[in-house]
Amino acid sequence: MQCGAWDSLVESAPLTLNAKVGNVAAAKPDKLSEIKAAKVPRMSTTIGEVDTVLGGGIVPGSLILLAGDPGIGKSTLVLQLAGILSGQKMNVLYVSGEESASQIKLRAERITGLSENFDFVATSDLDSIISLVNKDSYDLVIVDSIQTMSSAASASAAGTISQVTNGASSLMQAAKSTNTAFILIGHVTKDGNLAGPRLLEHLVDVVLYLEGDRFGMVKFLRGVKNRFGATDEVGILEMTGTGLQPVNNPSGLLLEERSLAPGSVVFAAMEGSRPLLVEVQALVSPSVFGFPKRASVGVDLNRLNMLCAVLTKRGGINLSASDVYVNIVGGLKITEPAIDLAIICALASAHKNVIIDSHLVVFGEVGLSGEIRTVNNTERRLREAKKLGYKSALTSPHSSLKGMKLPSSIGEAVQIITKK
Ligand code: TYD
Ligand code: MG
Repeated sequence: MQCGAWDSLVESAPLTLNAKVGNVAAAKPDKLSEIKAAKVPRMSTTIGEVDTVLGGGIVPGSLILLAGDPGIGKSTLVLQLAGILSGQKMNVLYVSGEESASQIKLRAERITGLSENFDFVATSDLDSIISLVNKDSYDLVIVDSIQTMSSAASASAAGTISQVTNGASSLMQAAKSTNTAFILIGHVTKDGNLAGPRLLEHLVDVVLYLEGDRFGMVKFLRGVKNRFGATDEVGILEMTGTGLQPVNNPSGLLLEERSLAPGSVVFAAMEGSRPLLVEVQALVSPSVFGFPKRASVGVDLNRLNMLCAVLTKRGGINLSASDVYVNIVGGLKITEPAIDLAIICALASAHKNVIIDSHLVVFGEVGLSGEIRTVNNTERRLREAKKLGYKSALTSPHSSLKGMKLPSSIGEAVQIITKK
């Protein structure tokens, strides 16, 4: 229970001592070596980027949560999936609690070649959906969105914690008993968390986030939980006039509009098992008020504050009276520490007003004493950089690479990149 928080008061029943404890039949364990792994069947979406994130396709009877900001393209993506799977003679149901049949029809008409051979129902009554799923055998049911659904079993309004969690658990039961796969769309709040309880993430089998700049074209489908495959895979899609399409050369697309200016540097990132080049931009300007302002888009603000302090103390660039802004171009959110060195270089370049060599990529973790640490997948990052025509890399001195720029500290890195 928390003070001042909604839905935090929970009833708990008194403990009843069961007289039978100790007398019940013991559970029967098996040796793991004797258990055969069942092969998980999957329904392929035929969109490679989506299949990779799902671990090969949609598993029958699984519950998938697709979350993302409004307008990012969730409804478009599921509509495409409904079309593709119904085109493969699968029985698909699309439930919309947000849009009317004619709105969905209009959207479907934009997507070229979409098979419209699936059922559609506009309702927010969860109970009637569950009855329908129990009656007809569907392979896939799409619920757009879980926040608009309500069941008579819970007295509260749609979108409240009890409706969302109760709704999801009754859908889970329906999924497992009928072997129907469900895709639930979930809204996210302003700070990027799932609206309603995070509890929903624990309940479902797969959690996917559709991210990216709402107004930009590139979208990232990120797996954060998957009971049937690897997580941290990212699918890269582009919003076109005819729906979401896979991107062949994502690094090229992300760097397409790069302009050479002070504060811009190319970071060789890893997204799941795939290398990706992204542009990091920094702006450094004198603070008007006594208190310097720091803001970041796409990277953690605490990390930016730490890097500003390290650069001031160990890199010979005083940012204590400067406003600092950092942006990752394309709406990508970077959480790996390998971005540290790229941010340091972008800040130094912005502060000194010099343009960084346009054929350089940067990656490496930075420690509090200004040292640069090795990060994973160095070779893969370099291969991607080479493929896109980048000639050199700036990274940790322990990477044992020939012909690369390997500064021993951030002070040296700053000197390398700001040398005219
Ligand atoms: P939508 O899928 O409704 O987003 P969400 O369900 O996540 O709120 O719409 C995403 C945006 O994409 C919307 O502004 C319209 C645009 N769009 C295209 O650019 N091309 C298309 O083919 C479609 C269907 C939508
Ligand atoms: Mg929608």
